[in-house]
Amino acid sequence: MTRVDDLRARADLHAALGQPGSGRLRYAAAMHFHRKGLIAPEVLEVYRTCSPQDWEDPAGLLAARGLTLDLPPPDTPDLAIRLLVEEIDRYLATLPGPGVAEVRSLIARWRDGPVTPASAANVVVGEHLPPALAALAQTHPALAAAIRAGAPYLPWVTYDSYPPEQIGPSFRQGHAFASLVGEGAAIPAEDFDLGLFLIAPHVLYRDHAHPAPELYAPLTGPHGWRFGPGSPLIVKGPHEPVWNLPEAPHLTKVGPTPFLCVFGWTRDTRQPAHVIPAGDWAKLEALRIEG
Ligand SMILES: [Fe+2]
Repeated sequence: MTRVDDLRARADLHAALGQPGSGRLRYAAAMHFHRKGLIAPEVLEVYRTCSPQDWEDPAGLLAARGLTLDLPPPDTPDLAIRLLVEEIDRYLATLPGPGVAEVRSLIARWRDGPVTPASAANVVVGEHLPPALAALAQTHPALAAAIRAGAPYLPWVTYDSYPPEQIGPSFRQGHAFASLVGEGAAIPAEDFDLGLFLIAPHVLYRDHAHPAPELYAPLTGPHGWRFGPGSPLIVKGPHEPVWNLPEAPHLTKVGPTPFLCVFGWTRDTRQPAHVIPAGDWAKLEALRIEG
């Protein structure tokens, strides 16, 4: 068995509940690890029992029987990154709306390239990723675990192309992003950028736009959006994707939970973003969205 087989089996083990055939997929993955001595017979039996029911979460029966799935974490940085791309792709497959299929087709095109793990400690990530993942783990434990395992090897940076006086100090100091697939990313790609974006609680990411079409898939919430200065702020929960067309203005106001999202830029990735002036930023920065 190759490591890629292990990777696929890990993802299959957490196949989305309700997905047709997912019960059998989870059982086959459990069998894969059982044969390697990594899953006990009584745990495998739970997966067999649940296999005819695609909506049946084996976690419930495991807990009822006092069992746990103690699969060791991926043992290398490159495997952790590949697993993260796999989990993100699976997650995107559950989302509706424009842009999702395009981003997934670009992931499929570039995902098998060589992995270059990084290690860039980032204070925003250190402080705000754990609470964001704790929130995500309540509904998406496999994705949260994959982000937790992969995050230490991603090239986290703080975007510094905006003029400081335009973007404002709270965003400048309160965000970080990491490219998973793209130019200078963990896995190389041309004119495509897939990654994770993190913003501290209550921060306002002021009105801005860019030539790249952009998918946001927020993993936490609530948070506010508006699509042009003067437009109303729309509060959305997690897992409500936003597709921004080229040069379409957008603004994000983070709620009490750190904003963690998957982003995808599908072309024109070298063209920088620019801030769009508005007269009400002070009011929006003071605003508090209820959790
Ligand atoms: Fe954007």
